[in-house]
Amino acid sequence: MRIAAGSDHAGFAMKQQLVGQLAGAGHDVADLGTDGEEPVDYPDFGAAVGRAVARGEADLGVCVCGTGIGIAIAANKVPGVRAAVVHDVSSARLARGHNDANVVCFGSRVVGPVVAADALAAFLAARFLGGRHKRRVDKIATLEEAT
Ligand code: RB5
Repeated sequence: MRIAAGSDHAGFAMKQQLVGQLAGAGHDVADLGTDGEEPVDYPDFGAAVGRAVARGEADLGVCVCGTGIGIAIAANKVPGVRAAVVHDVSSARLARGHNDANVVCFGSRVVGPVVAADALAAFLAARFLGGRHKRRVDKIATLEEAT
């Protein structure tokens, strides 16, 4: 799969870890930064990952910031993006299965590296379940058309 990854400075180390995991699993990873621990602004990287997914340049996105929250909020401002903050294998699996999340977000100050690795693997392995979940996800999409 083509996967875009991005983080701010707080998420840099975990982003590097997850990029390594993805590349090791054979995915085509586009690392959109940041490139170090110099302070940067998480919206820039959430937007970059979100745009890559929305434009179809990436199939999925992976974002990391301190909590996962700010970068998810930013990514979710890009139409077509469904970014989910996940904290464990269950939330990762359900984010894909029920919400058709196309960007998964981690908080490096909230979850440890092993939990993040396992959750990322679960996110990638899961599939959208459709059916009643599609009706609900479609309703989310209509919110992008409303003012
Ligand atoms: C950076 O200090 C921190 O605010 C950021 O990584 C993130 O947690 C925001 O949601």
